[in-house]
Parts: sequence; C-alpha cells; structure tokens
Amino acid sequence: SRSVITIPVVVHVVYNTTAQNISDAQILSQIQVLNEDFRRTNSDADNKWAQAADTEIEFCLATVDPNGNATSGITRTYTSVSSFSTNDAMKYSSQGGKDAWPTDQYLNMWVCNISGGILGYAQFPGSGDFATDGVVMGYKYFGTVGQATAPFDGGRTATHEVGHWLNLRHIWGDGACGQDDFVGDTPESDAANYGCATGHSSCGSADMVENYMDYSDDACMNLFTAGQKARMQALFAPGGFRESL
Ligand code: ARG
Ligand code: ZN
Ligand code: CA
Repeated sequence: SRSVITIPVVVHVVYNTTAQNISDAQILSQIQVLNEDFRRTNSDADNKWAQAADTEIEFCLATVDPNGNATSGITRTYTSVSSFSTNDAMKYSSQGGKDAWPTDQYLNMWVCNISGGILGYAQFPGSGDFATDGVVMGYKYFGTVGQATAPFDGGRTATHEVGHWLNLRHIWGDGACGQDDFVGDTPESDAANYGCATGHSSCGSADMVENYMDYSDDACMNLFTAGQKARMQALFAPGGFRESL
C-alpha cells in the first residue's frame, strides 16, 4: 500500500457574476487548507482528542489535463445560470456548467453560486454516476480569502465535503444515538452541532464537535480521527473505489 497519497484536483469555476469568478489566490488558499487539515498541520490542532490523526492524504492542483497538456488545474466557465441547486447541473456543459474531467483520475471540485443556503455538497464513492463524482462548493465558502464569508471562511466546508467524497459520514450518523457513522473512535452523538458547542454531550459522552464531519463553524473544527483515516485510506487499497487516483 501507499503511504502518503496525493490527489490531483481540478477546480471548475462556473460563474455568472464577476464575484463568482473567484481568484486564483482564493483557490490556492483552499488547497492549502485541505493539505493542512488532512495532514494535521493546521495551526489550530490541539491535544484534546487523543485519536486525532494525520490522514496521510494530500491535494495538488492538476498539472496535466485530460489531453496530456499542461494546466493550472483551474477551469473557468461563464454561465447564464444565476444560481444552481443540488441537481448537478453545474457538472454538465449542456446545462450551463462544465463537464467533469475523468473522475477516476481527478478530484473534480465545482465552485459556483448555490441557492438555498447550501455551503457545499459531495457524492459518496460509488453512489452515483461517474460523470457527477466530485464536490460542489459555494463560492462564498471556498478558501480563506476573496469572497470567503464568515463563519465559513476557514476552508472547512471543502474539508468536510472531501471527507464525504472519501466515504465519511456525518459524525452523528445522521440519526439518533445508536445510529453509526461506521467509525469506532468517534463518540456517538444524536444530532449535528452548530456554532461551537464545546462540551455538549449526547448519548452519554461528550460530542466531538471539533470533528470536520460535524456542523460546527469553521473556527471550531480541527480534526479527523484515526478511525476516519482508516475508512478513507481503505478507498486507495487494492480494489478500493479510489485506487486509480
Ligand atoms: N452542510 C454541508 C454538508 O453537510 C457542509 C457543512 C460544512 N460545515 C462547515 N462548518 N463548514 O455537506
Ligand atoms: Zn455533510
Ligand atoms: Ca462512531
């Protein structure tokens, strides 16, 4: 097996307004946060939870495009669509979006205007079409500079969404106590936590509100666990869904 995995990323900026056409600097700030969070070099890492882990997964903007040509790893597409929903239209050139690059070779991240207060969404490995495999991000919740807007200006929405793309469930298992996130070292919880509910308990123990897979504000989140790392790394093992990356 491989020790440190590096995932090539293509960021598809799909914009209707100038503001939505986010800067290269904003994109680079997001790649930096992904690398810090997944390698646990984030400056807000602390010792509160002993099971906190370096996932040994890294991200780099693609340097070679699907035709074998040099690329910045960023595409920019003007759209007449003023806001998108979660129906994946941003993933199709025929629907005002931009077609994915081969999803077995790249992590596709679409950045656009999403309606309905949705920060971002992701497709779980193996749970949908290959053409829609990837992560969608609202342009105000991507990276740490430019259009990034508090309290979601720490780049943690993408950390959370890439967690889903790598098979992680929400830490409360999307259900009551007893409903699992399939990770042994994350404490049970009965619901999402918002803001920064440090010390909140459910299911007989403290919730891990600092986990990237809760719903806390960006400034409150700072870890993945060893169990989450194992679940993500399993995708890259022989026969795993993301082995080809
Ligand atoms: N609501 C989104 C989801 O379930 C993302 C939540 C991200 N939270 C954050 N603090 N950035 O996928
Ligand atoms: Zn989520
Ligand atoms: Ca658990």
